[in-house]
Amino acid sequence: MKKVIITGAAKGLGFHLVLQQLERGNLVFALARNITQQLKNVSADNSNLVIIPADVALTESVEAAYLKVRSYTEKIDVIFNNAGVYSHKSKVPVEETDFDEEASRTMNINAFGAMRVIKAFYPMLSRGSVIINISSIAGSISENEVRISEYAYCMSKAALNLASRLLINDFSPKGIRVLCIHPGWMRTDMTRSPEQSTKEMIELFGLETIAKMQIDPGISAANISSIVDDIDSIPKELMFIKHTREEIKW
Ligand SMILES: NC(=O)c1ccc[n+]([C@@H]2O[C@H](COP(=O)([O-])OP(=O)(O)OC[C@H]3O[C@@H](n4cnc5c(N)ncnc54)[C@H](OP(=O)(O)O)[C@@H]3O)[C@@H](O)[C@H]2O)c1
Repeated sequence: MKKVIITGAAKGLGFHLVLQQLERGNLVFALARNITQQLKNVSADNSNLVIIPADVALTESVEAAYLKVRSYTEKIDVIFNNAGVYSHKSKVPVEETDFDEEASRTMNINAFGAMRVIKAFYPMLSRGSVIINISSIAGSISENEVRISEYAYCMSKAALNLASRLLINDFSPKGIRVLCIHPGWMRTDMTRSPEQSTKEMIELFGLETIAKMQIDPGISAANISSIVDDIDSIPKELMFIKHTREEIKW
């Protein structure tokens, strides 16, 4: 039985990762800021699910979560750094971007939040542990040729990717794997509806195609969980991949 941490576990991709990990018989620590009824319902039926309140934007909240997890186990096998935010207000060009509030908040959650979790849980990691940072193709520099907005989100995911590169340098000799995964364009509260896509994406693909391109988060969670199951088959030099396993240039 693996011991698994999932942040942002109460809805969207995080909730589906919880279901996938429970299906595998793993002990799941679901870290969540707003705890949803759907998560409580699953925990009522499954003693392998432990719900722990945690806001990844706050060091003291993450440290409290660490102490709670530590009371169950000494070792963590997998961390899914999934918690993330996307601000629809950030779909504006640079001159209208709010770097003081929106962009700083996004960076603090998407990039520093994941790092806070890794820092807090570091004493529980050991040879064989795996860290999955849920990133986004929006954070790829080489694959970002059309966007003229979304500075906050794109910059935060690029920062997460760079931090993952440094972690790989540090953790590889210790036998700890770190991988960034783009979960695909999913239908979740984050993306809302095709109409909520950026002007550039609507011009490029059209609303009908966007609706078809958005996948169910359950599919992505299943693919990501199977990557973790087969982690030894993923070449160690790959740092950033899609949930379908293709490499993304970062
Ligand atoms: N949807 C997409 O198409 C897409 C594409 C590429 C990458 N991603 C990435 O996939 C991940 C999951 O996104 P999703 O689509 O499932 O979105 P979602 O349904 O909005 O879920 C995001 C989760 O993150 C949690 N969260 C946000 N801020 C938090 C904080 N400070 N502390 C703890 N938890 C926090 C949310 O909790 P609350 O309910 O408390 O806010 C929620 O559970 C994110 O990292 C996102 O950037 C998504």
